[in-house]
Amino acid sequence: MRILAVESSCDDMSWAVVKDGTDVESCHVFSQADLHAVTGGVVPEVAAREHVRQAIPSLRAMGEAIGGFQNIDAIAMTQGPGLLGSLIVGISTAQTLALFLGKPLIPVHHIEGHIYANWLERDKDEIKFPLVVLTVSGGHNDLYYMKDFFSYELIGHSLDDAAGEAFDKVARILELGYPGGPAIEKFLKESEGLSIRRHLPRALKQKGNHHFSFSGLKSDVKRHVQLLKDEGTFTVEERIDIAAAFQESVVEVLAEKLFDAAKYMNAQSVCVSGGVSANNALKEYMLTHAHKHGFQEEQIFFPMKKLYSTDNAAMIGAAAYYVAERKPEKILDTPEKIMGVSPLLVYTVGNDA
Ligand code: KG4
Ligand code: ZN
Repeated sequence: MRILAVESSCDDMSWAVVKDGTDVESCHVFSQADLHAVTGGVVPEVAAREHVRQAIPSLRAMGEAIGGFQNIDAIAMTQGPGLLGSLIVGISTAQTLALFLGKPLIPVHHIEGHIYANWLERDKDEIKFPLVVLTVSGGHNDLYYMKDFFSYELIGHSLDDAAGEAFDKVARILELGYPGGPAIEKFLKESEGLSIRRHLPRALKQKGNHHFSFSGLKSDVKRHVQLLKDEGTFTVEERIDIAAAFQESVVEVLAEKLFDAAKYMNAQSVCVSGGVSANNALKEYMLTHAHKHGFQEEQIFFPMKKLYSTDNAAMIGAAAYYVAERKPEKILDTPEKIMGVSPLLVYTVGNDA
């Protein structure tokens, strides 16, 4: 089954063609990062207007890349959650395309997309159930237990900021640019091997507590920076130390909580997805600490490419395939159903999905 998918929930418009949930025939992300770097974050109206500008040229580029749309079986798009203006552009483009080509439409939840990004370019049965998956990016920081495809139990979430949001805020405090995760990683690249002098807090670290909290950590960074600025010692060396101590804290908290939850739930696989799963330090920590927690490296899964960690349409095409296979009632196959899609009516990924 070949699915043409579009994702436009935030600041990037992406198109992809994915076959049978795993084979990525084509995936393009039309990034708006440069535009939002100017303001140090996404201004929703600016993002929506750029999506309007990008929609048709990016669709045309996709059509050229795959030699036309004649062999597509279905169209998929992100229904939500996300920025309303951005979502509406992707949804209406997908609706028009489905009606024009006479193909069914499959709406996908953004977080479900991130979850199924782990199946891209892998054998379908490589990831064993039951599993625990951490979806962690700018807008969400959730832990799900899955007994099978489409069986989700939300077992933990952030009580305040998501880890990606903390990366973005701390990068702004340290004057490193946007998006924060890649900016901090790049900044730290030159200082690899340096020992970290500061120890920043690890919130809610007690075993058995599967929730997260990152806003205190961000406030702590703010306090350190203010002190240095007051003393006139806000040097590159100090910024490196703070950035490294911040990343160390986030990585340890995410990884240790994920291992703890996976052990508690008797999981066969431990998966990470979402923008923060592109972080090299997190992947390295997970792989080097797996044994200590009773897991083999082969039981730890990150998306195969960084492209599939951050927002992309291939993950939407993958999730849509599993929707079609396991939840055919969710396929919209009449003009009335296709036109009825609304970002305000997005379902919940959780015990009722
Ligand atoms: O999944 P995503 O593209 O969009 C959302 O659904 O939010 O994730 C974007 C988030 C941003 O907060 C960004 O700073 C973070 O993921 N991120 C990273 C890295 N790449 C992206 N965080 C840490 N390290 C990275 N390499
Ligand atoms: Zn996302």
